[in-house]
Amino acid sequence: MMQRGLFRRGALLAQQAAVESSLPPMISPLQPRLDRSMSSLTIPPPACMLRPLEVPFRYLFGPGPSNVPPRILAAGARPIIGHLHPEMYEIMNDIKKGIQYAFQTQNNMTIAMSGSGHAAMECAIFNTVEPGESVLVAVNGIWGERVAEIAERMGASVHTMVKAPGGVFTNEEIEKALAKHKPVLFFLTHGESSAGLAHPVDGIGDLCRKHNTLFLVDTVASLGAAPIFMDQQNIDILYTGSQKALNAPPGTAPISFNERACQKMFTRKTKPVSYLLDMSHLSNYWGNDGKPARLGTVSDLQAFCTGLISKTSWKHHKEVAEYLWTGLEDLGLKLFIREKDLRLPSVTTIAIPQGYNWREILQYIMKHHQMEMTGGLGPSINMVIRVGLMGYNCQKRNADLALAALADALRNCKKSKA
Ligand SMILES: Cc1ncc(COP(=O)(O)O)c(C=O)c1O
Repeated sequence: MMQRGLFRRGALLAQQAAVESSLPPMISPLQPRLDRSMSSLTIPPPACMLRPLEVPFRYLFGPGPSNVPPRILAAGARPIIGHLHPEMYEIMNDIKKGIQYAFQTQNNMTIAMSGSGHAAMECAIFNTVEPGESVLVAVNGIWGERVAEIAERMGASVHTMVKAPGGVFTNEEIEKALAKHKPVLFFLTHGESSAGLAHPVDGIGDLCRKHNTLFLVDTVASLGAAPIFMDQQNIDILYTGSQKALNAPPGTAPISFNERACQKMFTRKTKPVSYLLDMSHLSNYWGNDGKPARLGTVSDLQAFCTGLISKTSWKHHKEVAEYLWTGLEDLGLKLFIREKDLRLPSVTTIAIPQGYNWREILQYIMKHHQMEMTGGLGPSINMVIRVGLMGYNCQKRNADLALAALADALRNCKKSKA
């Protein structure tokens, strides 16, 4: 078998050499350029490119990316195929079914785009909002702030409802703001990873319908870890990211639009500001627009496909999170989100223990335990330490490792007398 392979390779090389030797000689005007040899390069190849790439193992127990299971890493090493090959379409069809399952939706306009969660965030807004239109954003952590900025940059008229990190908006407050600002789109983060909050969603979709507003929900940090039902909860646009509870490497962002959202985005007067994120192209590539010809962009979908098919595991995330929460309280630490039912099971926020420098704690844990945990982000900076156990990392033995690392840090990091 091996010999036949070698023989075949030898034959191919001989064939290639024969083709090359039959090519016509180079024409003279190009000659001086082609004659340049490697020795005439003024910029030498950097030494780092000659070294093999080394990546250390780390426990990724922050808010993401999360460690990826070996079978999914292996999927990423499978041969590359063309993005317009029939086998690629089959993979994409399977991915679409997987996302529909994970989102609990029957929406035809369901795709996985190349890019991080931010790409899906921009895709949702760029496609459904036109310059000058009113957008309402619930801000209770970094992600609302980020969406408000994105919408503002593309020329929307942005209105915000603002609470401290981890704050919860009541349906009454939301309805009042919908009536006041008459937005075409309302944005809410389901899993506010900067605060560790799982925001309730029930009833908001109905209010949005009543006020002729599209309901956009970010589940980058929560999908697979906390329940969400796109169709039943009347969510018009939902997106997530691959690198958290979905077990896949970063770089793929699933997104789904229902009929109401499609109606708005495909009857707009102006073109979306981004070509790459224009859903009229992306929906064609995914075969969602019913046209026979599909034109595509290259995407890294194979590893993602394998990640997605692992079962969604709300119960499992909740059990491991509760185990972690009890362990943290046993260490004398205070959880930032007081009400248990509002805690995000994938990312736990710990109030910074009094007298400690949180940066020192995190540095100690990285140095002595090769473990990533992180501080707050945006408005929650200097308020919390974040511990994420999601997807493949969501295991009680990992919770034990995280607890042991924190206990060690609390023993060994300086504590002021205050
Ligand atoms: C809730 C939420 N939304 C959006 C994002 C942005 O995703 P990405 O970092 O993949 O661009 C994150 C990332 O942490 C997140 O937690």
